[in-house]
Amino acid sequence: MDANDMGSDLKDILVSEDEITTRLDELAKAIDAYYAGEEVLMVGVLRGSAMVMADLARKLHTPITMDWMAVSSYGSGTKSSGVVRILKDLTEDIMGRNVLIVEDIIDSGLTLSWLVQNLTSREPKDIKIMSMFRKPEAVRSMEVPVDWVGFDLPDEFVIGYGLDYAERYRNLPFVGTLAPHVYEK
Ligand code: PRP
Repeated sequence: MDANDMGSDLKDILVSEDEITTRLDELAKAIDAYYAGEEVLMVGVLRGSAMVMADLARKLHTPITMDWMAVSSYGSGTKSSGVVRILKDLTEDIMGRNVLIVEDIIDSGLTLSWLVQNLTSREPKDIKIMSMFRKPEAVRSMEVPVDWVGFDLPDEFVIGYGLDYAERYRNLPFVGTLAPHVYEK
């Protein structure tokens, strides 16, 4: 999918495909340096993190394995409440292991805050967080200290590179803003 497929539904491109690739190279370098050859279990939070998991994993030299969690937050509409339900739990036992949580975006930080607490109770050796994008609310609330962040985004309706609107547009290779006529319909 590209900008042409979106026609007038796309307002602006905020982060280009090249910028995403360059930033992922930098993040992979920093993450490799941190783990210094130790094995790490990457935990992707479905569904948005599929893109960043696939791209980051291929750039890392650190030996990795992958696992996935799906969670749903009880909230009104687009706002999460911080109360989370596990839809799909990890397959792996993480006790004594290095865990890297990989997120597409942090908004209020409530999902991540719950996730860190939940995974910490399983006694891993270490938990770190990488998020490709972050909204201003997450910076303001400082709900969870994020170890690696790709880009800080404005408080707009963003789509692409894993981010959806009504489950669509996740497969755009860049991040853009949605034209108001799409969500005001
Ligand atoms: C998004 C994102 C985070 C969460 C962040 O997932 O992937 O998990 O919202 O929001 P918060 O910081 O306000 O808690 P979403 O529930 O939209 O599911 P998705 O990954 O399937 O799009």
